[in-house]
Amino acid sequence: PSSLRVPGVKRELETLMGSALEAAFPDQRQEPIVVQTTNPKFDCDYQCNNAMPLFARVKGEDGAPSNPRAVAEAIVASIPANDLVEEAAVAGPGFINLRLRDSFLEGRAATLFQPDLSVESWAPQAPCRRAVVDFSSPNVAKEMHVGHLRSTIIGDTLCRCLEFSGVDVKRLNHVGDWGTQFGMLIQHMEEEGVAFDAAVEDLQVLYKASKVRFDEDPEFKQRAQRAVVRLQGGDEESRERWGKICDASRREFTKIYDALGVTIEERGESFYQPYLEGLVGELLESGVAEMSDGAACVFVEGQDAPLIVRKSDGGYGYATTDLAALRQRLSEEGADWIVYLTDSGQAQHFRGVFAAARKCGWVPEEGTGGYPRVDHVGFGLVLGEDGKRLRTRSGDVVRLSDLLGEAVSRCKAQLVERGNDFGGDEEALDRVARKIGYSAIKYADLKQNKQSNYEFSFDRMLDLKGNTAVYLQYAHARVCSILAKAEASGAGGGGEGGEIRVTCGAERALLAAICQFPEAVEDCVADLAPNRLCEYLYGLTSKFTDFYGECQVVGSEEQASRVRMCEATLEVMRKCFFLLGMEPLDRI
Ligand code: ARG
Repeated sequence: PSSLRVPGVKRELETLMGSALEAAFPDQRQEPIVVQTTNPKFDCDYQCNNAMPLFARVKGEDGAPSNPRAVAEAIVASIPANDLVEEAAVAGPGFINLRLRDSFLEGRAATLFQPDLSVESWAPQAPCRRAVVDFSSPNVAKEMHVGHLRSTIIGDTLCRCLEFSGVDVKRLNHVGDWGTQFGMLIQHMEEEGVAFDAAVEDLQVLYKASKVRFDEDPEFKQRAQRAVVRLQGGDEESRERWGKICDASRREFTKIYDALGVTIEERGESFYQPYLEGLVGELLESGVAEMSDGAACVFVEGQDAPLIVRKSDGGYGYATTDLAALRQRLSEEGADWIVYLTDSGQAQHFRGVFAAARKCGWVPEEGTGGYPRVDHVGFGLVLGEDGKRLRTRSGDVVRLSDLLGEAVSRCKAQLVERGNDFGGDEEALDRVARKIGYSAIKYADLKQNKQSNYEFSFDRMLDLKGNTAVYLQYAHARVCSILAKAEASGAGGGGEGGEIRVTCGAERALLAAICQFPEAVEDCVADLAPNRLCEYLYGLTSKFTDFYGECQVVGSEEQASRVRMCEATLEVMRKCFFLLGMEPLDRI
């Protein structure tokens, strides 16, 4: 891959408008404010919005413009000669509407095919050097549930976008593999004479049963507590049993990650146990933590409850482990950005942990925009069609493998119903159904605004029309088939497209959308919001659908240029699919 970078369109406009601002108002240091125009009515691509805030600053000074429009006029008059902007027009109270030159869009899209350049060269600038993304993070001896699925899917996409941007990403699975519950479970299994390499489903049942006994039988509780002490004390037999329980869960988790194509490194809570005692000691010594009712607590301003780092019984909990993990990631992993993904139910927990880290001076105060930076991405619940938390009919948590399996079988049925049985090639049918099914589940999740709860509906996510992965997959296959046809026709296609030339509005809109790809990734990373990338991909695909509806490709006079446009669309679409963790289908 080449290290050559093509700057994003918005970045180039910022540079240009920066020079204009500098020339027009040399005494005012102004960051250029450039945004995409969403309203087609304005017939422009971007808007520069500096005039209004600038006017507020210069108002009343000697010789200052008398209104924001005049400020905007002055900025426009100072735009240096360039090959980017065709027209800069002042609109409304002082917006500057910027329309890009067709030749600029043509040239920009053409860079995808230049030697040494590719869509990789369009990657946005890395916001930092090294990031740790803490995602998925299910619990041992418990089933992975839809909340973990969301964390896995959103986390994987954020990692991919960061990686594409050139950030060195450490993907960490903070598995819940430690705590008093393991003493309880081991004790119960031993007393019941169950083999320690039991399957996960059995483990869950055993776990529940042990919990009941723990709560109801004081003698069992004592034995369980002694088992915890043995396990935490490093007793070999206990460790071995614990290890077997973890193995069984790990096998289940791995199956899901493999199916979804997600890479992640396991580093469970147990990893941080050796750090806890020392950490709490330091916190107490430095005065960051203080003793309160026998517990070591970190009090932070603006938080009602303190963060308890050592319970009065001497035990360490979830928060202590997270604080230790945070520090280990900053110091030993050299992270300058740590991102956590869980459902928003844990927002309070992370606020506490981050506040404590600030009190320790490990991360800068909030709102300074400084690094190292920590973020918790909380997302909403997955609801059933009844509007309540997604459950099976019998009221149990929905098993992930069942969910994935059902998506696949529904896709299969859909394909067959549409008369597409791949000539009886059962294997091909399965493969395609799997790809559509998995991408449908992922996309339905990723396109949500991460905070909102959303209703899980197979019917909606498998809809052929509308903003679904199925629609996107069919569009992708359509682009491929146009290119195959072009190639078969002899002229153009197969990497043989010609020079790109805009001849109509639909072509121009498609090119403009293609050129905005880097901005979509940048927004996705900056806001930690994959839905930004989904919106972009859906927009691009719609522009392609319009283009294809209006412009004949194969057999037209413009074939060579239009084939290139299809190829450029395909490049960018495929990269989006990749970043969203979806496997594109060339043929459906
Ligand atoms: N195991 C936790 C759960 O299932 C999620 C862990 C998230 N990561 C963290 N560093 N606390 O709820």
